[in-house]
Amino acid sequence: MKQFISVQDVKSIDALVKKALAYKASPWVDKKLGMNKRIGCLFLNPSMRTRLSTQIAAQNLGMEPIIFNVGNEGWMLEFEEEAIMSGTTVEHVKDAAPIFGKYFDILAIRTFPSLKNKEDDYSELYIKQFIRYAGIPVISLESSTLHPLQSLTDIITISEEMKKWKKKKKPKIVLTWAPHIKPLPQCVANSFAQWINDWGKAEFVITHPEDYELDTRFTQGAHITHQQDEALKDADFVYVKNWSTYTDYGKIFCNDPEWMLTDEKMKITRKAKIMHCLPVRRNVELSDEILDGANSLVTQQAGNRVWAAQAVLSEILKSK
Ligand code: CP
Repeated sequence: MKQFISVQDVKSIDALVKKALAYKASPWVDKKLGMNKRIGCLFLNPSMRTRLSTQIAAQNLGMEPIIFNVGNEGWMLEFEEEAIMSGTTVEHVKDAAPIFGKYFDILAIRTFPSLKNKEDDYSELYIKQFIRYAGIPVISLESSTLHPLQSLTDIITISEEMKKWKKKKKPKIVLTWAPHIKPLPQCVANSFAQWINDWGKAEFVITHPEDYELDTRFTQGAHITHQQDEALKDADFVYVKNWSTYTDYGKIFCNDPEWMLTDEKMKITRKAKIMHCLPVRRNVELSDEILDGANSLVTQQAGNRVWAAQAVLSEILKSK
């Protein structure tokens, strides 16, 4: 693997999931693989799970992780080519990224979208500029449109749960929109849709209010409905996530609390397991009763972030 930006960088999702679960069983089996190597983790935006799980994953492989909170502690970077830098930006990515390429063996970056300009965000300029100028493998820690480490984790968690099933069958997986007080990126939803569609092992349904259609490049293959009840019927896994509007970009058109899942709503599922990438706003996006209930997978999911990151780092180290 030369980079990890989307599912398109993965030869076999199942093989990567198998590798991640093998690391979960034996975390230090490849302790020498990353010896004398460094990963630079650049955060232009906040993080808890991604930051900590990537550090632990690197350390499990014997690598040294160095965290740089560029957003708070670094010079403000310019990404546009031929920019006249007379405004707030201090350093161009074409000057900074090659230096990261000298300091590190792998570069991992978190760059959220502005949610102001769809074309700019969906061009993925920031991460593409790091790839262009760093000269070393780049891993997305969540970009403007996708969150591939989260999606890999999600499929690891679903696969892990399905191993407990007595009878093999195709799972019904539902991605449901949930209310939120702020406009959030579409990254997690886009990425989950992209990975589940590519995986191809599930009946996949997406449900959201009108006006919340996602980019069809990611959702193609899923059944999409505005009726949450219809979507939830007989579901095995329900992935809950808010996102802001894609078509009329970055807005909140609906904040109907009726879209928040409750135990009552879950009665029509097949005792579905509940997933969320976290952080979650309790009793806005998801009710206490669901998050604290026996069917919530959210902590298991967040724990699996380590094994997803470790599997990806291992693949990149082995191909270097
Ligand atoms: N799910 C996730 O990416 O969490 P953080 O934003 O805390 O890294």
